[in-house]
Amino acid sequence: MRLQTLIQFTSMKIIDGKAIAEKIKNEIKAEVAAIIDRDERAPHLAAILVGNDPASETYVASKDRNCKALGITSSLYKLDAKTTEEELLKVIHFINNDPDIDGLIVQQPLPSHINPDKVIEAISPAKDVDGFHPLNVGKMAIGLPTFLPATPMGIVEMIRREGIETEGKHVVVLGRSNIVGTPIATMLSRKGNPGNATVTLCHSKTANLKELCLQADVLIAAIGKPGFVTADMVKPGAVVIDVGIHRISDNSEKGYHIAGDVDFAEVSKIASAITPVPGGVGLMTIAALIMNTMKAFKKEL
Ligand code: GUN
Repeated sequence: MRLQTLIQFTSMKIIDGKAIAEKIKNEIKAEVAAIIDRDERAPHLAAILVGNDPASETYVASKDRNCKALGITSSLYKLDAKTTEEELLKVIHFINNDPDIDGLIVQQPLPSHINPDKVIEAISPAKDVDGFHPLNVGKMAIGLPTFLPATPMGIVEMIRREGIETEGKHVVVLGRSNIVGTPIATMLSRKGNPGNATVTLCHSKTANLKELCLQADVLIAAIGKPGFVTADMVKPGAVVIDVGIHRISDNSEKGYHIAGDVDFAEVSKIASAITPVPGGVGLMTIAALIMNTMKAFKKEL
């Protein structure tokens, strides 16, 4: 085992999410330029942000910056934290009926007085570039073409472009959220490439978590706990995908650093490939959201 570990270590690959996302964005930039050259209006993505959650503000600002850099129109509807559910639904209906807006996301989490299910159901399924509407989730579950949620779609795109084999492999997913864990488990277990995997979806009530993780050929950590996945939970040679993004206070000039759900320093010694945080899945999420916006613009679904 030690020799095998050594071989794996020397061939370990850090999956460069930044480079893959840049490539996708360059492809889209050229496509948008061609659309504008034909005197058509640019694709348009709208985002609604309710309140001042710092992580949400960062995500929405990044989406806005990335869209604009590619020539995609981006508009932000920033609503006060005290906005009522009814007021928010009115803004959603307004955007649903605006023919010049192709895609709409409502940033989560929402303030606790607003029912997120009601909000998601109010978004037109044809503009639901987050892929959160029950109609689109249902289509995904039975394999019909639809908007796939951005984070799992970004992971699948990353796996595809890296040439990582999933057919017949054991994929273990940590975390069953509607945004990441549940959809990635569905997507990788369905027929396709990537896909055709045997998937185990683990959550807070899973027994023998470590034993299951040790069986994973591909381990996807979306559990929301910094450094949760340690080296003793990973099979030598496994592919490790880290979805976590956590701000950890430290004594650096900035006062913090960003870490994932995986203990990168130790796990990278035994994995065959691993995504870094930052620089991994996070950048792919934005790229996938923009891919969905293009689909909405082209009315492909
Ligand atoms: N909050 C965390 N991730 C996401 C996402 O992908 N979309 C939305 N709307 N909210 C989020």
